[in-house]
Amino acid sequence: QQGPAFDVNAMTLTRWVLAQQRTAPSATGDLTQLLNSIQTAVKAIQSAVRKAGIAKLHGISGNTNVQGEEVKKLDVLSNDLFINMLKSSFTTCLLVSEENTTAIQVETERRGKYIVCFDPLDGSSNIDCLVSVGSIFAIYKKSSEGEPIEADALRPGNQLVAAGYALYGSATMMVLGIGRGKGVNGFMYDPSIGEFILTDPNMRIPEKGKIYSINEGYAAEWSEGLKNYIEEKKRPKTGKAYGARYVGSMVADVHRTIKYGGIFIYPATTSAPKGKLRLLYECNPMAFLVTEAGGLASNGSIPILDIEPTSIHQRSPCYLGSKQDVQELLSFLQ
Ligand code: AHG
Ligand code: MN
Ligand code: MN
Ligand code: MN
Repeated sequence: QQGPAFDVNAMTLTRWVLAQQRTAPSATGDLTQLLNSIQTAVKAIQSAVRKAGIAKLHGISGNTNVQGEEVKKLDVLSNDLFINMLKSSFTTCLLVSEENTTAIQVETERRGKYIVCFDPLDGSSNIDCLVSVGSIFAIYKKSSEGEPIEADALRPGNQLVAAGYALYGSATMMVLGIGRGKGVNGFMYDPSIGEFILTDPNMRIPEKGKIYSINEGYAAEWSEGLKNYIEEKKRPKTGKAYGARYVGSMVADVHRTIKYGGIFIYPATTSAPKGKLRLLYECNPMAFLVTEAGGLASNGSIPILDIEPTSIHQRSPCYLGSKQDVQELLSFLQ
């Protein structure tokens, strides 16, 4: 039947997060405050992304980051928004950003108990040609005593409190997981009221899909096992061939994989044996969400969430998606 023209009881992200806080007896409201500060950063970034071409925000900023990448103007703007909104939420003590060489220690008077690792703008090579981009975040609770130091962020993904992403696509959507059996929930941005509305409660990834997602430009550098797997997807011994989809923005490729099923791969290659994607603010948050949604996420040997990090910008091969598809791939890689 026709949905409400104007929902006078809309389940906004703000309301949903508050409702979850009310179900946790020991909750102090800090995670609510933290998530709302991230929501504000995302609203501002989506506005900047959608008018970048007019506001002269396309193009490069002129410097290079620790990744050796040319930093775009929107990378800088998004990073500043995340840092300022997180610090001013009084709920964080340490921040790890793709765009900052070292971890950022929040000043004493504004400290809280959470550590946030984030990719402020994911897929930034796609900005100037108007292809979808995103933001990714991962939230830990500080577990050590004393001053927050970089080592406090070197935690396996299986200790994450929450993780999520924003996709600046044909619409803007936030996808969030807070563990505790609350699953993965999708909130679509409604610009007319400036709120994210719960449209995809309890997202579940299909057991098996029909799409594989990988940059075939590096095929010459793939392992034998990966070559054989992709060949099987193209010319299966039995059944139908898979379709291929690759956006080149991790958030877009992972969101499609959760929605439609299938497998997303950024593999180890001969020139990049650890792959390209960064563990703390790309692989771990996405592995957390895919796993919470009933899928699998592996580095080719162990679950991504079990990797013990040793440095904040370390990379990891990433094979994630529908359970049966990832299991089949792993059987080829062994
Ligand atoms: P970022 O823009 O944050 O540096 O991330 C880009 C990443 C990721 O979004 C995407 O999956 C991958 O780079 C694409 O890399 P290739 O162009 O090598 O396929
Ligand atoms: Mn980058
Ligand atoms: Mn990224
Ligand atoms: Mn980025």
